[in-house]
Amino acid sequence: MNTKVSVAKSFKQNDHLLILADVKNFEWTKELVSDSEKSFIKKAAKDDVPYVFLPQINRYIIVQFLHKKGSPAELLEDTRVAGNDILALLSHYKINTITILNRQKKGNNILEYLEGMALGNYKFLKYFKDKKEKESCLKTIRIEAKAVDVAEVALLKATMEATCVARDLVNEPLSYLSAEKFSEEIVKQGKANGFKTTVFRKKKIETLKMGGILAVNKGSSQPPTFNILDWHPSNAKNKKPIILVGKGVVYDTGGLSLKPTANSMDSMKSDMAGAATVVGALIAISKAKLPVHVMGLIPATDNRPGKDAYVPGDVIRMHSGSTVEVLNTDAEGRLILADALHYAKKFDPELVLDFATLTGSAAKAVGPEAICFMGNVKNGLKEKINRSGDAVYERLVEFPLWREYGDYLKSNIADLKNLGGSSAGMITAGKFLEHFTDYPWLHFDIAGTAYLKQANSYRPKEGTGVGVRLLFDFLKNYNS
Ligand code: BES
Ligand code: ZN
Ligand code: ZN
Repeated sequence: MNTKVSVAKSFKQNDHLLILADVKNFEWTKELVSDSEKSFIKKAAKDDVPYVFLPQINRYIIVQFLHKKGSPAELLEDTRVAGNDILALLSHYKINTITILNRQKKGNNILEYLEGMALGNYKFLKYFKDKKEKESCLKTIRIEAKAVDVAEVALLKATMEATCVARDLVNEPLSYLSAEKFSEEIVKQGKANGFKTTVFRKKKIETLKMGGILAVNKGSSQPPTFNILDWHPSNAKNKKPIILVGKGVVYDTGGLSLKPTANSMDSMKSDMAGAATVVGALIAISKAKLPVHVMGLIPATDNRPGKDAYVPGDVIRMHSGSTVEVLNTDAEGRLILADALHYAKKFDPELVLDFATLTGSAAKAVGPEAICFMGNVKNGLKEKINRSGDAVYERLVEFPLWREYGDYLKSNIADLKNLGGSSAGMITAGKFLEHFTDYPWLHFDIAGTAYLKQANSYRPKEGTGVGVRLLFDFLKNYNS
């Protein structure tokens, strides 16, 4: 993360201040502004302006009004968006440190404001020659101590840092982030944050007969990896692990069923975004030391049409022993995920959640506004994950896994095929995955949300880090 966040016991005379204020109560003004400035602020509040900018002798003061219309989730989101919107002003006036004060009578939304600001200030500059020139001016956000709970700030910092790592990983091109490099990055994050990582290389993947991963990797000149992440604190609430599975296709050309080169391949470095979500979630929970046993499983490879590439018509034997007729080599995500989902059985998981940029039809169905999900969990878990989705504004839409969709995957020569019919592509992909599960499980298709062509407020263009904040909120409130 390129923004430092700290809690400040006090502020000095010349610190630039950002004051969250009500539109009706001006008691706080005595402490900070003159009478004429107060009248000016009052008039602006009446006129419904979003904020007032006051240059004083040795500092700037920004008075931010937060409007309070909409559902609770929308109010929190509007606050994050306001936090992002103010960045343009801070940048214009070359403010590099800002101190946030809360002078609202009610309103515990300061953390969301901070979140919008810090996440919106993210930039991926690694490959520019003149990085310094492109850097954001804002370097430090301080929050007045009396406005927040220090422990809550620490949790928020953990999720924001982890979200930014997930963004970085998605933004890295294949020229850097091969499957092996990805494993190195995961090991590095594990060491830095306290989770354990085991990396299986090609030989071990062969020994385990992970036929899905090996088939997808056949056209590549770089070997696959299979990564096991483990956060197992001694005070874990759950006896059996929660397992997060992430699609780690470091580049998806479609394989021999090549994607059309115009546009559709441009963003395919992001096809490991599900894996980035899993890495991000493990970083966030280990930084925050959440008392839950969580594992991550990440199969990683690129999907290429090299000379030995698997071909449409091939029949492959999966890690589970089931056979799959491959009818489209571009439906590769489900093949590598299936091996990981079957492998998860050996840990007797309490719950498995998989994240994947799995289908274009998920992106078409709901656009960048939501994550599509499906699965078989009970005990109010779907309601809980939905609540987390609303809280962090990574909203969820459920799709059905009716048995009839299973018929779409029937093959003439194998146990199932990797391609459904011409409709319901997102659901048949989920149905394919279901075949390899025998535990409580949810599948999240993040194809629409993981990568943006245009920035959407505090979600930058390219990698968004979607799913990290969602999983953190869910796991923070988790009770088995
Ligand atoms: N990685 C793609 C899905 C995708 C598409 C993600 C667009 C993000 C944006 C996936 O591997 C894929 O190619 N899916 C195919 C499946 C089809 C061949 C059954 C799709 O959705 O078209
Ligand atoms: Zn594909
Ligand atoms: Zn893919």
